[in-house]
Amino acid sequence: MTDYIGKPANRVDGAAKVTGAAKYAAEFTAPDLVYGVVVSSAIAKGKITRLDTSTALALEGVLQIFTHENRPNLAWFDKNYQDEDAPPGAPFRPLYDEKILFSMQPIALVVAETLEIARYAASLVQVEYETETPTTNLEANRAQAYIPKKYKAAEPSPRGNAKEAIVQAPVKTDATYFHTSEHHNPMEMHASTVIYQPDGTLLIYDKTQGTQNSQKYISKIFNLSPAEAHVVSPYVGGAFGSGLRPQYQLFLTVLAAQELKRSVRVMLTRQQMFSFGHRPATLQQVQLGAAPDGALQAIIHENFSETSQFEDYTENQVNWSAMLYNCSDVHLEHKLVALDVYTPLDMRAPGGVTGMYALESAMDELAYELKMDPLELRLKNYTDIDLSKDNPFSSKELRACYQQGAERFGWSKRNPTPRSMREGKNLVGWGLATGAWEVKQQQASAKAILSIGGKLTVSSATSDIGTGTYTIMTQIAADTLGLPLENVTFLLGDSSLPEAPLQGGSWTAASVGTAVQMVCAQIGEKLFSQARSIPNSPFAKAKFTDIIFANGQMQLKTDPMQALSILEIMRQSGLSSVAGEATAKPEAKQKKYSMFTHSAVFAEVKVDEDFGTVHVTRVISAIAGGRVLNPKTARSQIIGGIVWGIGMALEEESMLDHQFGRFMNHDLAEYHVPVNADIHDLDVIFVEEHDDIVNPIGVKGMGEIGIVGTAAAIANAIYHATGKRVRELPITLDKLL
Ligand code: MOS
Repeated sequence: MTDYIGKPANRVDGAAKVTGAAKYAAEFTAPDLVYGVVVSSAIAKGKITRLDTSTALALEGVLQIFTHENRPNLAWFDKNYQDEDAPPGAPFRPLYDEKILFSMQPIALVVAETLEIARYAASLVQVEYETETPTTNLEANRAQAYIPKKYKAAEPSPRGNAKEAIVQAPVKTDATYFHTSEHHNPMEMHASTVIYQPDGTLLIYDKTQGTQNSQKYISKIFNLSPAEAHVVSPYVGGAFGSGLRPQYQLFLTVLAAQELKRSVRVMLTRQQMFSFGHRPATLQQVQLGAAPDGALQAIIHENFSETSQFEDYTENQVNWSAMLYNCSDVHLEHKLVALDVYTPLDMRAPGGVTGMYALESAMDELAYELKMDPLELRLKNYTDIDLSKDNPFSSKELRACYQQGAERFGWSKRNPTPRSMREGKNLVGWGLATGAWEVKQQQASAKAILSIGGKLTVSSATSDIGTGTYTIMTQIAADTLGLPLENVTFLLGDSSLPEAPLQGGSWTAASVGTAVQMVCAQIGEKLFSQARSIPNSPFAKAKFTDIIFANGQMQLKTDPMQALSILEIMRQSGLSSVAGEATAKPEAKQKKYSMFTHSAVFAEVKVDEDFGTVHVTRVISAIAGGRVLNPKTARSQIIGGIVWGIGMALEEESMLDHQFGRFMNHDLAEYHVPVNADIHDLDVIFVEEHDDIVNPIGVKGMGEIGIVGTAAAIANAIYHATGKRVRELPITLDKLL
């Protein structure tokens, strides 16, 4: 059966991607295509007092300029439609009125015959504002913090009396950690190309992590039926959460296409990629109390996180502190500060990256207070029960992650004293951190059709944002029906395909994978019922559970020589094709368990003592992620996560100028991300983990766990190297001097 699952199959879409055959949202075209360029607000708060488009409109080739003054009255402007990933609140409505809610808010769309004319015309739009002072400083506005309703609803019940226990604890730490806002910077910028069809319907190519989410949003706003707003997105050049919500370019492109009855494309610039959604800046206070032997006696984790003035963006930042370790007294608080910025947005392992950076830094500080090895401290407080819910874990091989990671890293050779390890003028430091990420299975559907030629086409409206979904779904389908990989085609990224959730939360393999397995098994059962009635059938007396599919055949498990080829079965039964459709839902038994992926991250840094420059020379990430469907694509996910963790630890920083309320370094020259020269030796270990609770396949998801814990491991290694505790990310060299 398992010919492909667990094998490092190459990406089935790899050739299309490297040859340019794969098309992205801004690459689709039409003979009458026109181009839209967005004009962004120069201020962060206030209102537009004068918007003069006359010079721009007079330019030859300019078709129209859409603003709040001339936009049509749309259904959506009266209601608050929330997309699948919308936090509580009132979503931003582009071109709604003259009010400016955040810097670089879209205030006009210039549409012209060429991109060049549109861009030039956009520069001629004259805008006057009445400016108010924006409030964008999280720390300075802590006093305005409030507990969001959504967090109140999801808050784990407090355990014991942590505030009392912390006072009594013989050993304790109390520190505040800050990390700044960060922006998603996928290679592909957000874009939409709307093809205006002869019958007036729209074929919408959108950069998105969910075509059906974009479709519902557009249908609602423009009062269109699903058939009138067909959304397609076969390839996505990275997204990391930025494509979870429909972004304003989608709205603007559809608006222009509807009004002009023309095909329109709008692509945001790299600068404009900093004008919607970001990982929120967060200030976290963590207090830990322990007995002299290291046993935790109290955990207090309180945080302040930014949101916009119009939505309560809430992520799970503190709840990790109630489930990761064995501790009877835990107190958590999660508060928001509303600022004049766009609503923050899920970014790879939202909340987990943030919360565990603080908790795992604090654990490291506690280890030094206790004069205890940081790994030993974690083992001392290991728990097989999720104490925040009193649930057992469906599986938890974190202990194996610690052991195998430590062994490969050589952790036992670590000299515990800070500044004790040197290599020439470099201080060497070793640090570690734990990571966790919740496992979820969402409802998903898939359909499949097997042709007489032995070709199987399986499809679902999921996405592949670079995670390898095309490949693993092909593997699951090929395995279930015992077909060669090259006989299977998997289709995704199309709103007309069977319903699937957004690609996010690391749940696609579990959710869509289960649907794909179900629908292929359904086809197998249909073949089986036909096969039993074939004259002299070797399966006449068999049950479905007695057979397997392998090498294009149906075989008896007990005697594989008793077989019929799938083609033979179809031919003898007079079938030209076999089709099916299935919907997979999470099983009720999941409810009694806590389901998480775990990791142990070990990092080595070398810090130049004179200049404070940090090189992350080694990272080993040991992952307990259930069944590994494809070690090659899984490893790529983890490596990508580690690289981003290095960026988070050392480089990435969206700098807000509070005077202007504007992210000033809004391009890749000034917003630093790791480049090849920053990346040295990265290694991934997948520890054995079997889990038949999470889903029938036993897969937990690899998309996000790789980034969790990485920044903390690096920050801890920097302390070990230098003896200096920097509690603010990114740790740039100025903070080390
Ligand atoms: Mo992910 S932040 O759920 O795309």
